Amino acid sequence: PFYQNISKYDQKILTSRHNLCAFRPLSPEEAVEEEFILHSIAWPETPSVTLNFSLKNTTDPSCSKFTILPKVGGGQWSIGDQLEVRIIMKDYYCHPKTSGGDALLARLRNEALDAGVSGQVVDHLNGSYTAVFPLVWEGRVTLIHPSEAITVLRRLNNESLDRVFFRSVFRSGSVTETSMCNVCLRPTNMPVCNYTDIRTGEPWFCLKPKSLSCNARIIHSMGGYLPKNIPLLPLFKTDTVGCYKFKERSQCPLTPCGEISQEDAYQTFTESTKVKFRPSGFYYKGVWKSLGGTQVYQFDTQSIIQCLSGKVVHFYGDSTIRQWFEYLNKALPGRLSLDKPFTNQLRYIANELDNIHGGSNTVIAFTVWAHFGNFPMEFYIRRLLSIRSAVLRLLARAPDTLVVIRTGNLKSYDVNGAINNGDWYALQRDRALREVFKGMNVDLVDAWEMTLAHRLQHNLHPAPPIIKNMINVLLSYICPKHK
Ligand SMILES: *[C@@H]1O[C@H](CO)[C@@H](O)[C@H](O)[C@H]1NC(C)=O
Ligand SMILES: *[C@@H]1O[C@H](CO)[C@@H](O)[C@H](O)[C@H]1NC(C)=O
Ligand SMILES: *[C@@H]1O[C@H](CO)[C@@H](O)[C@H](O)[C@H]1NC(C)=O
Ligand SMILES: *[C@@H]1O[C@H](CO)[C@@H](O)[C@H](O)[C@H]1NC(C)=O
Ligand SMILES: *[C@@H]1O[C@H](CO)[C@@H](O)[C@H](O)[C@H]1NC(C)=O
Repeated sequence: PFYQNISKYDQKILTSRHNLCAFRPLSPEEAVEEEFILHSIAWPETPSVTLNFSLKNTTDPSCSKFTILPKVGGGQWSIGDQLEVRIIMKDYYCHPKTSGGDALLARLRNEALDAGVSGQVVDHLNGSYTAVFPLVWEGRVTLIHPSEAITVLRRLNNESLDRVFFRSVFRSGSVTETSMCNVCLRPTNMPVCNYTDIRTGEPWFCLKPKSLSCNARIIHSMGGYLPKNIPLLPLFKTDTVGCYKFKERSQCPLTPCGEISQEDAYQTFTESTKVKFRPSGFYYKGVWKSLGGTQVYQFDTQSIIQCLSGKVVHFYGDSTIRQWFEYLNKALPGRLSLDKPFTNQLRYIANELDNIHGGSNTVIAFTVWAHFGNFPMEFYIRRLLSIRSAVLRLLARAPDTLVVIRTGNLKSYDVNGAINNGDWYALQRDRALREVFKGMNVDLVDAWEMTLAHRLQHNLHPAPPIIKNMINVLLSYICPKHK
């Protein structure tokens, strides 16, 4: 079901409109930076979706036109060329769209080589887009959401960030009560428990239980999803816009280019004269190769043990980093210890980092993305700025500490997933994350590209072969001299 166990009382509170969350206060410098980040990730204006708006007026991927532009300078296509594709988006009447803002993904893959890499899409803001591909494997562009869906997604985050809500259980003696919690609550005459973190200023509130005190909180958990009237539900399906292939002539105006070796692929992606867009890496025979200067080594159990011996690795974040812990725990049974946070504590990564000495044997790996989609961007940016300040303090007192950030990834979801935490929300948060940590002495594991380029289906929790590649990137940062 779309929502679970919402009491009449909760529903009344949740369905009053509100737009009055106060997020943690900012210093003047942070306020300027927040503005800058919001500006740098601004999504083009998307059409307003009014009651009179019809689905037929929205982007129809199957009517849209996907044309490979002629090779600059003429002649035969050859491997390594920069292929440009013009995409003209049309609506369900097959009339060209006149505004931009459709969320598109481009990627290239070769099944036989188990190879893949991401491409790039440029929005010309007039209904046309250009996708740029290095001509090495077959390419495809998919629509995550038409621009009209993005209008809806934006509106939802402004007006009902609490469509995902939380609960806490309070207990004292034999009395147990449950109440609703969130980063902010709608105006209410009921007393509220304010759990705002004194160190980071991060807000958290629960309705006060009727008979118990705010201190009696014992368990924090997911509450559920608020039922919403989503306009134009069919807007939220992803679809292919167009693709090119080497072998099936009918679908591809290109002559077959043959297969490309790993060295050729590497050269193509790194040769700046030919390739405008530089991906962070690519798959070849199922193995992720980084293009960012760090060589990615392959670690078996023995070399994982060697690499991690004497190291203290701290993982922080959501269930997508727990997958890393679980992978290593399986590889090294009994060697890892788990400091599982008790669910009655509200723990923040920034505060945890402040309690760490750091040093050349300390590794910090964190991810912050999967639970932030439904909140306004300011909430996410402020959380990241708190963490960044703590990382800066850590690197100031122990410059040898290795800090690794796992980015967000693509996933599969239904309509409810799309409106609560779909790929467009993740994409925008990914852009903000990269902006906040840009130029800092931290390493990224680019989970976004590693899921986009991989042949396996997208999943909130990426499949084991992808996790293995991520762990190899992580361990290559930790042990760059590994042979
Ligand atoms: C919808 O269309 C009707 C008639 O076509 C018009 O009277 C009404 O104002 C429109 N409503 C909105 C919200 O645009
Ligand atoms: C939807 O498309 C039709 C046909 O092109 C057009 O007449 C109508 O004005 C469009 N409606 C909106 C709300 O854009
Ligand atoms: C849209 O903008 C691009 C880039 O400026 C241009 O090449 C193209 O002709 C424009 N298309 C339309 C339909 O105006
Ligand atoms: C958010 O919603 C409020 C009303 O609830 C509106 O006044 C405001 O313009 C909206 N902001 C954005 C960015 O959509
Ligand atoms: C919650 O507590 C924080 C700090 O203790 C305070 O700054 C904030 O104003 C309080 N918020 C509300 C809504 O009471």
